[in-house]
Amino acid sequence: MTPRTFKIKSFGCQMNVYDGERMAELLSAEGMMPAAETDDADLVVLNTCHIREKAAEKAYSDVGRMMREDGTRPLVALAGCVAQAEAAEAKRRSPMIDIVVGPQAYHRLPGMVARAARGARPVDTDMPAISKFDAFPQRRRANPSSFLTVQEGCDKFCTYCVVPYTRGAEISRPWADIVTEAHALVDAGAREIVLLGQNVNAWADGNRGLADLIRTLATIDGLERIRYTTSHPVNMSDELIAAHGEVAKLMPYLHLPVQSGSNRILKAMNRSHTVETYLATIEKMRDARSDIALSGDFIVGFPGETDEDFEATLKIVDTVRYASAYSFKYSARPGTPAATMEEQIPREIMDERLQRLQERINDHRLAFNRSTVGVDTQVLIEREGRHEGQMIGRSPWLQSVHVDTNARAGDIVDVTLVAAGPNSMTGTVRRAVAA
Ligand code: SAH
Ligand code: SF4
Ligand code: F3S
Repeated sequence: MTPRTFKIKSFGCQMNVYDGERMAELLSAEGMMPAAETDDADLVVLNTCHIREKAAEKAYSDVGRMMREDGTRPLVALAGCVAQAEAAEAKRRSPMIDIVVGPQAYHRLPGMVARAARGARPVDTDMPAISKFDAFPQRRRANPSSFLTVQEGCDKFCTYCVVPYTRGAEISRPWADIVTEAHALVDAGAREIVLLGQNVNAWADGNRGLADLIRTLATIDGLERIRYTTSHPVNMSDELIAAHGEVAKLMPYLHLPVQSGSNRILKAMNRSHTVETYLATIEKMRDARSDIALSGDFIVGFPGETDEDFEATLKIVDTVRYASAYSFKYSARPGTPAATMEEQIPREIMDERLQRLQERINDHRLAFNRSTVGVDTQVLIEREGRHEGQMIGRSPWLQSVHVDTNARAGDIVDVTLVAAGPNSMTGTVRRAVAA
C-alpha cells in the first residue's frame, strides 16, 4: 500500500535535523502528510547518528519498536549516518528495515518509498557528485531560528571519528544557492539563520569564504541574526574572526571544539592544531569581540590518555572559561584508526574523568551566566514556556532565556537579564511588544 502519512525522527547533529526538514518537504511535495505520532504514520524515517556506539545502537532498538500491538507496522526507512555506514548490512540485521537511504541520497527517497510499497527493499548509499540540494523543493516553512546547511563532509580524518566515512569528502554548496535559500527562509519567517556544516568554516566558493557569505547574508532585510556551527580550529580565518567585530548581525558565540588540552593526545587524534595555536585563535577572537561566548567539544579517555593529559584538559577549560561545552567518553568506532590503538582506557576511569570534566565545565557555565546578570540585551523568542504567559528565547550568547511577555515566537524583545541558573537565564521585558 502506498503510504499516505509519514513521521521523521532525527537524532545526532543539527545537520540531521536540517536533513529531516528537507526530507519532510520532499515527501509533502509528493502529497504525503506529516503524522503527529509515530503510531499514526504509514512511513517512519529513522534519521540516525553513528558518532558513538550508543547512538548507533539506538537506531536498531528504535527499529525493533516499530511493531504495533495489532501486529501491523509502518514502512521503515533507515536514514542518516548509520544507514551510510551499514548499507545493505542493515537489512540483514533487521528484517523490519524496508529502505536504507544514506545522507547524500535523500532526494531519491520518494522513488524508494514507492518501490518499498510494492514489496522491494531498496538500498541507496551512493555519494553522487551532483548535489542532493538541487532536488529539494523551495523552502516554504521556517522556524524563528532556522538551519541552513552550507557545507557537508569532512577531510580531516580525526583518528576517532566516523564522519569522513559517513558524510564523505568536504563539499561546499554554491554561493547563489545558499543566498536563494536564505531569502526563502526569511520570507517564510526566519529571523535567525544558523549556517551548518561538519566543518562550516571550511566553506568556500572560488575565492570567497564564510566571512564573505556572512557579510552578504547580513544585508538581507528581516534577517536579524546569523550563527554558524561547527567550526574546526585550523579553518578559523582572520577574515572570519574580523567579521565578528564588524558584522552586527553575527552573534557573539563560537563553538570551537578542541577535544583535549594535551598536545600529545591532539597529535594522536590527528587534530592538526595544538593547544597553543588553539589558544592563539581564542585570543584573536576575544580581541575582535570581547564578549564572545565560547563553546567546545571534549573527548575523555582517548587511547593512551594519562592522568597528566587529562589534567591538561581541565587546565584548558580554566584558561578558556567556556560559556558552555559538550563532553563525551571516547567511543571506539569500527574502521577508525583509534579503535585499534593500544592502551584503550578502562570504563571506570573514563566515567570518573567525564564527571570531573563536566563539573568543571558546569562551574564555568554558571560563572558565565552570572556575569551576564544585569545586562540589557535582546532575546529572540522561539517557543512557549511551561507557565502561562512565559516564553523562551535565546540571548545573543545562545543562553536560553525565560521571559514573561505577550510576544510571540519570532519576535525580538528588549530584555534585562535578571537571574542566572546553570542552564538558563531569567529576563524581564524592558519595552512591551505592541499587541
Ligand atoms: N565536525 C565537528 C563535529 C564532529 S562530531 C568537529 O570536528 O568538531 C561532534 C563531536 O563528537 C566531536 O567534536 C567529538 O567531540 C565527538 N566525537 C566524535 N567522535 C567521537 C568518538 N568516537 N567518541 C566520542 N566522542 C566523539
Ligand atoms: Fe570528525 Fe574531526 Fe571531521 Fe570533526 S574534524 S567531523 S571530529 S573527523
Ligand atoms: Fe551523527 Fe552523522 Fe551528525 S554521525 S553527529 S548524524 S554527521
